Amino acid sequence: MEKKRAQWSSKLGFLLAAAGSAVGLGNIWKFPGRAFEGGGGTFMLVYLVIVLLLGIPLMTTELTIGRASQCNAIGAFRALGHRRFSWVGWAGVVGAFVIACYYCHVGGWVLRYVFAYAFDAPAVYADSPGYFYATLGLNPDGTTVFPWVAVGFAALFTALTALVILRGVSGGIERFNKIGMPALLVLLLVLLIRTMTLPGALAGARYMLSFDLGKLSFETILSALGQAFYSLSIGMAILITYGSYLPQTEDIPRNSVLVSLMDTLVAILSGFIIVPAVFATLGPDQVGKGGGFAFVSLAGVFERMSGGRVFGTLFYLLLLFAALTSSVSILESIVAFLTERFGWRRKGATLGLGAVVFLIGCLYTCSQAAFPIRGVWLDFSSGVSFPAFCDFLEYLSDRLLIPVAALGSCIFVGWVWKPERAIEEIRRSGARFPLAGFYQFIIKYIAPLAILVILVMGFVTGRTLS
Ligand code: PHE
Repeated sequence: MEKKRAQWSSKLGFLLAAAGSAVGLGNIWKFPGRAFEGGGGTFMLVYLVIVLLLGIPLMTTELTIGRASQCNAIGAFRALGHRRFSWVGWAGVVGAFVIACYYCHVGGWVLRYVFAYAFDAPAVYADSPGYFYATLGLNPDGTTVFPWVAVGFAALFTALTALVILRGVSGGIERFNKIGMPALLVLLLVLLIRTMTLPGALAGARYMLSFDLGKLSFETILSALGQAFYSLSIGMAILITYGSYLPQTEDIPRNSVLVSLMDTLVAILSGFIIVPAVFATLGPDQVGKGGGFAFVSLAGVFERMSGGRVFGTLFYLLLLFAALTSSVSILESIVAFLTERFGWRRKGATLGLGAVVFLIGCLYTCSQAAFPIRGVWLDFSSGVSFPAFCDFLEYLSDRLLIPVAALGSCIFVGWVWKPERAIEEIRRSGARFPLAGFYQFIIKYIAPLAILVILVMGFVTGRTLS
């Protein structure tokens, strides 16, 4: 903490790193599935409102805590004179750790698909769900084996993440992002056009635009809230850490708006690609929810495209980089803590952490289809239950740790450190921040209430909330 802190090498460097953290598997892998389940347009509208009303203010808040304290997420609260609030940072760092465990593995599946399209596309086309489940150790005849393929690729992905962190975030990642992010956008547009012109796809597009008040359930709102936080990387110590590398001259609210818009744009584009693709290729009822979406449903699109193999390979390659920039941000915020707090060397911390995260993640991958590994959960509706380990990890981060960390940041800035200080820190860069009054209102009242509701309802209803 005493040492002079690293800073982003350029304005664009930070923006791209924050956007790189935000844009990831959450946008392309999780969002379309959620939108599909949440009624398409109904979900999207709720999602947009949440990003505007809560996402942007919360992102601003976390970045501001980081920049004002110049410290990692746990030290930050102490540096600002409120040691009692260190638990907020703890919740964030532990949440990041839990996410890292499965993120590295799903990243590995993506890497596997880069190779699958490059060398084995006909097999993917022949039976895309079968191919996906075989990767996870479930054979077409129903027998199961240890998922060597998925685990092997996850090891590679984790190693790649560690490598980037060791090479320094500003060098490798900043440079890559400048090409990778625009390339991802262009490719998404190409895929959008191809999907939309498939017979049957328009029904999917219509579904994604349909707003139906009758479908607006509490569950949809919870799901959108959880998804928004996850996608914007809120409540995971990351924005505090990245904010601490942010030069005094940067306009924080403006950056928050830009990052949130980019993130949301990618999510919506993915939604309009993947959901119509499901309608056109698999039929609206045939797809299991969640995980398989980005892996299973796109195969039909690539198959019907000229040069589909090339586009498929490229798509997974870019998704791989999007996932990599996110996994780097997750591990980086934990490494920052370990090195600053315990004086660990960067190299040891990165390698050790990578190994632990990978090993725990193996349980995640194995519990998908191959083995009945379980976690423990407690809620008010069903008492003690034993969900599959893969669900358990997601519950732990999405239902408990992320909301706790986000709530803690709101209470801290809204009621303890005071919004006036945050606003002062924001204006120090010369930013005008015309919405300061609105920000204050949101951070004191609306955001904490909304998050408290998520937190409690997650335990009362016993349903997945994000
Ligand atoms: N926001 C990232 C995504 O959408 C995931 C992520 C979660 C990144 C937590 C950092 C921290 O994929």
